[in-house]
Formats: sequence, structure tokens, C-alpha cells
Amino acid sequence: MNVEMALAESKKVLSSKRQAHVERVTEEALQLAKLYHADQEQVGIAAALHDYAKEFDKAFLTKTIESSVHLPKDLLLFNEELLHGPAGAELIRRKFNIEEKNILHSIRYHTTGRARMSLEEKIVFLADYIEPGRDFPAVYKVRELATEDLNEACRYSLRETIQFLMSKNQLIYPDTFHAYNELTKK
Ligand SMILES: [Fe+2]
Ligand SMILES: [Fe+2]
Repeated sequence: MNVEMALAESKKVLSSKRQAHVERVTEEALQLAKLYHADQEQVGIAAALHDYAKEFDKAFLTKTIESSVHLPKDLLLFNEELLHGPAGAELIRRKFNIEEKNILHSIRYHTTGRARMSLEEKIVFLADYIEPGRDFPAVYKVRELATEDLNEACRYSLRETIQFLMSKNQLIYPDTFHAYNELTKK
């Protein structure tokens, strides 16, 4: 698997609109990988496959998580939006025999974040948040931070996400709090 192959695989299962998002995320992630001397290949493959499961139906995502020995089942008690990351990582492991933790974790945690994210995980998480197609108030600040301080950019986006979810009376998956707390302590 390489970045081109990963993009071709995501193209097979995504609408053209979402594939365009995936391509922008991949480009953004590769730029950040260069800036922060991260593993280009791992970042590129993870970014290209991060939304692989985004358009599969809820029943299939649920079945994938239920049948996985790697994934916690409490995911099923939270917002449906959280399922495609973990389920996607599991499907990619099964389908493409990818065992590289950095790739799988970058995909698994791209929506929630987690404490102790690797450099590559942080880059994929941020690239998804700031890709050029995004347009909401916090994105301008996070784009600026992303080129100056990767940890602060992650912390700020996590803070925004938590505040946004709370304002909508939505549940917040604990990993998001753990990621925010860890980066705020630093
Ligand atoms: Fe996603
Ligand atoms: Fe995405």
C-alpha cells in the first residue's frame, strides 16, 4: 500500500464530494508531515483512508465494531458520528492487511483524538480539522496554530469541539477529554 493506492481505495467507496475532502486532507497532512518531520508514507496512507468507512451504513459499522477484538464496545453508546473512525481502522486492517499502529491509530482516533497521540496521529487529526474546504470560526485560528505549535493546535481544536458538542447537548466521548486534558497540562 502507498498513498496513491490508498486514495484509489477510498475513491471506490466514497462519493466524489467526500473523496475531494479526503484528497484535501491528504495534501494538508503531507504538508504538516514535512513541516514536523513525521513519517510521510504513514501520514499519507492514514489521511487517504481516514474516512474509508464514512459512507457505510450504521448497521455495518456497528457489526464491525461488535466483531472486533481491538475496539471498545462503549463506542456504540455515543454519537453515530464516532463509529466510522474505529470501524474504518478495523476494516482497513482486515481488508488491506495493514498492521502499522500509526496508520491504524491515526484513522481510529481522527474524530475523537486521545491522550498520547503520536506525531502522525496529531497530524491526521488536525489535517481533517483544517483542510482548505473547512469554513467555521475556529478554523482560521487553528490553521495559524498548526504551523507554529502542533500540540497547541490540537488542544485548541479539541477545546472547540468539546464546547461545540456541549452547546448542542451532545455526548462527548471520554478520549476527547483525555486528549484535551493531556495537552492542557503540558
Ligand atoms: Fe471522519
Ligand atoms: Fe474527514
